[in-house]
Amino acid sequence: MSNMQRRSLGQTNIEITPIGLGVMQFAGGKGIFRFAFPPMTQAAMNAIVQTAWEGGINWFDTAETYGKGWSEQGLARGLQAAGIDDGEVVVATKWWPVLRTAGNIRRTIADRQHFLAGYTIDLYQVHQPFSFSSPEAEMNAMADLVDAGKIRSVGVSNFSARQMRRAQRALAGRGYPLASNQVHYNLLHRGIERNGILDTAKELGITIIAWSPLSSGLLTGKFHQTPELLARTPRGRRLNLRRQIERSRPLIDLLTEIAPAYDATIAQVALNWLVHFHGDVVVAIPGASKVQHAAEAAATMRFQLSAADMQRIDEATRPPM
Ligand SMILES: NC(=O)c1ccc[n+]([C@@H]2O[C@H](COP(=O)([O-])OP(=O)(O)OC[C@H]3O[C@@H](n4cnc5c(N)ncnc54)[C@H](OP(=O)(O)O)[C@@H]3O)[C@@H](O)[C@H]2O)c1
Repeated sequence: MSNMQRRSLGQTNIEITPIGLGVMQFAGGKGIFRFAFPPMTQAAMNAIVQTAWEGGINWFDTAETYGKGWSEQGLARGLQAAGIDDGEVVVATKWWPVLRTAGNIRRTIADRQHFLAGYTIDLYQVHQPFSFSSPEAEMNAMADLVDAGKIRSVGVSNFSARQMRRAQRALAGRGYPLASNQVHYNLLHRGIERNGILDTAKELGITIIAWSPLSSGLLTGKFHQTPELLARTPRGRRLNLRRQIERSRPLIDLLTEIAPAYDATIAQVALNWLVHFHGDVVVAIPGASKVQHAAEAAATMRFQLSAADMQRIDEATRPPM
């Protein structure tokens, strides 16, 4: 099936499926994440990882800051429980740069490896642009880790177009590509199409990894269909979801109209648009707090929206010039 075809992660030789699984949810109940997601048992994490994998998803995105290693550890245990070998799966994690310098990248890599329990870090991302060190210093520290065989490729997250160029140039000086920029991108949040990030990614061959591709669950339509669900959603996400319900209703109506022709859900149409509208540049990492979410995310790769339907969705969500 052509739409199951893997894509290169930037200009690396790492191959990823258009949909990966974000596992921030695995930090539920820990630190600030208790305001966003309830605690999750290891058994639940195992089931989510296995379902995503069996559905055809070949990569997972986690971060140091998702429960200080908790999400990384939950992911690694889930991969082990599913009998997935290191060489088969692509693992992406992130270093937290705020109030730190680039030297900390080298000092903390052993912690990442410890929590990931032998799974290779295929993509190591700088989580935010805010740091005591410059992008150049950070990229040099990352390149040292590639040289040492501790990570396979380097990415950034939430970097502007200008910051992407600086990171790309610094890595090029060391002989490595900047693989990706992980940014907020979904049908209700299309800013990267206007602020130069998407154009820069296309020009330099950098993959865009869309975070919150379902707008934190809003683009599943479940809060429109069952507003009572909001009351049960942790308060860290509730306010923002409530604020966006009315504005997103016409879009949900349109996705509801389009979905049946593909035997798909609203969420699958929203994800499918994201990973096809701009060719191969954008991949998405929906998060799952239930097995069903992971199964649905994976099954997004079983169809492709027609050009006409992608156009309709584009026109309905395109931000004004
Ligand atoms: N780099 C960054 O700065 C950054 C920032 C945020 C996120 N991320 C990454 O992006 C990933 C995804 O972002 P996200 O979790 O914020 O947003 P998301 O993928 O837009 O939404 C995930 C939430 O939507 C709901 N959901 C997902 N699939 C569903 C389905 N089929 N049916 C019903 N509900 C469904 C679940 O909500 P309930 O849990 O309420 O059921 C789930 O927790 C994260 O896991 C993380 O890896 C990165």
